[in-house]
Amino acid sequence: MLSAIILALVANSLAQNVDVKMKLLQHWDNNFEGQFCYTLTHHIVGWEVIIKFDQPIKHIQQWEADWIEQPDDTKCITEAKLVNKNYKGVHDKGEQLCLKFMANTCGSGEPSATGTLVDLTNDHQTLPPLNVKPGAQKSKYNYADVLMKSILFYEAQRSGKLPANNRIPRRGDSALNDKGSNGEDLTGGWYDAGDNVKFNFPMAWSTTVLTWGLIQWKDAYENAGELDKITLWLILHWRVGDGGIDHGSWTSPERMTGNRPSFKIDASSPGSDVAMETAAAMAAGSIAFQTKDSAYSATLLTHAKQLYTFAKAHPSYYSNSVNAAAAYYKSENITDENSWGAIWLYKATSDKKYLADAEAAHIPGESWGFSWDEKIFRIILLEYNLKKKSNDKGVYLQDIKATMKAWMPGGSVPYTPKCLAFRLQWGALRYASNAAFLALVAADLGVNPDIYRKWAISQINYALGDTGRSFVIGFGVNPPKNPHHRGSSFPMIPAPCGWEEQQNKGPNPHTLYGALVGGPGSSDDYVDQRNDYIHNEVACDYNAGFQSAVAGLQHLANGQKLPTSYKTCS
Ligand SMILES: *[C@@H]1O[C@H](CO)[C@@H](O)[C@H](O)[C@H]1NC(C)=O
Repeated sequence: MLSAIILALVANSLAQNVDVKMKLLQHWDNNFEGQFCYTLTHHIVGWEVIIKFDQPIKHIQQWEADWIEQPDDTKCITEAKLVNKNYKGVHDKGEQLCLKFMANTCGSGEPSATGTLVDLTNDHQTLPPLNVKPGAQKSKYNYADVLMKSILFYEAQRSGKLPANNRIPRRGDSALNDKGSNGEDLTGGWYDAGDNVKFNFPMAWSTTVLTWGLIQWKDAYENAGELDKITLWLILHWRVGDGGIDHGSWTSPERMTGNRPSFKIDASSPGSDVAMETAAAMAAGSIAFQTKDSAYSATLLTHAKQLYTFAKAHPSYYSNSVNAAAAYYKSENITDENSWGAIWLYKATSDKKYLADAEAAHIPGESWGFSWDEKIFRIILLEYNLKKKSNDKGVYLQDIKATMKAWMPGGSVPYTPKCLAFRLQWGALRYASNAAFLALVAADLGVNPDIYRKWAISQINYALGDTGRSFVIGFGVNPPKNPHHRGSSFPMIPAPCGWEEQQNKGPNPHTLYGALVGGPGSSDDYVDQRNDYIHNEVACDYNAGFQSAVAGLQHLANGQKLPTSYKTCS
C-alpha cells in the first residue's frame, strides 16, 4: 500500500518524457503519413514533441503544432521538433494527444520513427536547504521557512538580465530593451505584481521596508539566506511599462514583445513623492551595505542625497508628470514622503539638517495605516527612536500608542470574524502585515512589547494558517494554487502562452513560493481563483511588510523571546 502511494506520488510529480513509436497510417511510393498518440497520465499545460526518424526523410508537413525550428524542405533530415500551438497546450489527464504528419522518404524501405513527448508544464523548482539557528525557539509556524520562501518570491519577480545563480528555473532574462528616452539602460528591478510592469513608487517603498527589516533583524537573514542587493536596480532605472497595455495581455516576462514605454521625472515634470521614497530606499540600503560592500554603500548614499536635493527643490506629485501612474499608484499626499526621506537621510548621515527637515514635515496624530502611500506611522516610529535618546518621548510615543490602539481589537479598524484587522478589501493581508511589522518595531523600542508582539503574531499567523488554510503560496496547509500571476501560470519555454493558461482549470503550473495573496473579504471569505485580482493577486508591496514582520518574529525565536500564547480576538 505504502509503496503504491509512493509510486503514485512519483508519477505525479515527475515530468517524464514519453517515447512512442510512429504509427504508419499510409505509405505509397516515397510518400507516407505517420502519427504519434500519447495517453496523458496527468493534466498538462504545454508540450513539445521531438521526432527521431530511423531513415532520412524530407518535406515534412503538419498543421497540428508549431515547428520549434522550421525544417528546410530541400534537405533530408532525421530529427524534427514541434511545440503545441497557442490555445492547444492545456490537456486533461486521460486525454489522447495525437499528432499527424506527411513526409517523403529520402531512401527506400518502410519509414519508422520515435516521438518523444516532453512535458513543459512545470519547472520543478527545488527549495534551498533551510538553516535554522541552532537553539532557536520552536514556533507554531516555521518563520525561517516563510522568510526563505518570501525571498524566493522577490527573485521570481526580477526583470532584466538574471544572475547565474538564479534559483527559479522557469525564469530567464526579460525586458532587456527597457530604455529611457535618451537611451538610458532601464533594465532590472521587479515586476510589480501579477503583471509585467515596473512601478517605481511601490517598488521603492517595498525596497525601503525590506531593507528596514534587514537592518532591524539581521540575524533572521543570516539563517534564512542573504538578501539580494535589492537596492541596486534603483540607481539604474525608472518606471517601465504601461499598465493599460500590459494588463490587456496575458504573457510571461520572457515572452513579452510589445512596446514598453518608460516615464521619467525631471525639473520640468517633477515628482518629489517618488524621488523621496527612492532616496529613502537608497539611504536605507547604504546603511545595510555599510560593512559588507562599502563602495556600493557610498554610491547609494550619493544617489540618495542627489534625489533628496532634487525632491526638496521640486515638491510635487509624480502622478501629475506621469499620467500613466495616476490610475495605479497615485500618491495622495507628498508630505509624508518628505519627512520619510529626511529621516532616512539623517539615519544614514547623522547630518542634523536632515533631522530638522524631518521635524518640520512631521505629521502629528493617529495614522490610518501603513502602505506604499501612507507613511505616517513609520515616520512616528523612527522619530520616536531618534528622540528617545534625548528623552523627548511625548508626542511621538502618544502617536504610536494611538495608532496601535486604533488597529487592535476594539479600535477603529474593523475586524473579520476570525480576527484579521481588515483595513481594505484590496490586499487586506498586506495592511495587517504592514501594521504587524510596525508593532514589532514599536515593541523593540520598548512600547508595550508583550501586547504588540502578541498582536503581530495573531495577524501574521492568520496569513500562515490560523483559519485552517495558508495564504502564502507554497507554504503550510492548503495554500493558494491559482494566483492572479502571469509568469507562474505559463508552461516552460518554448511553449507559447496566452489567455488559455489564464483560464486553465488546473493550478498554476509553477509554485510561486513565498508570495502572500491579497487575502480574504470582510467575513473571512476567500476563493482560490486566478481571475480574482482583488483577493488572489500577489505584489511586491504585499510581501514587503509581511517579510519584515516574519523576520522580526524569527529574530524573537532566535533569541527565545517569542511569546508562546496569543489571542486571536478579544
Ligand atoms: C497632506 O498632509 C498634510 C499633513 O497632514 C496636510 O497639512 C495637507 O493639507 C495634506 N495635503 C493634501 C493635498 O491633502
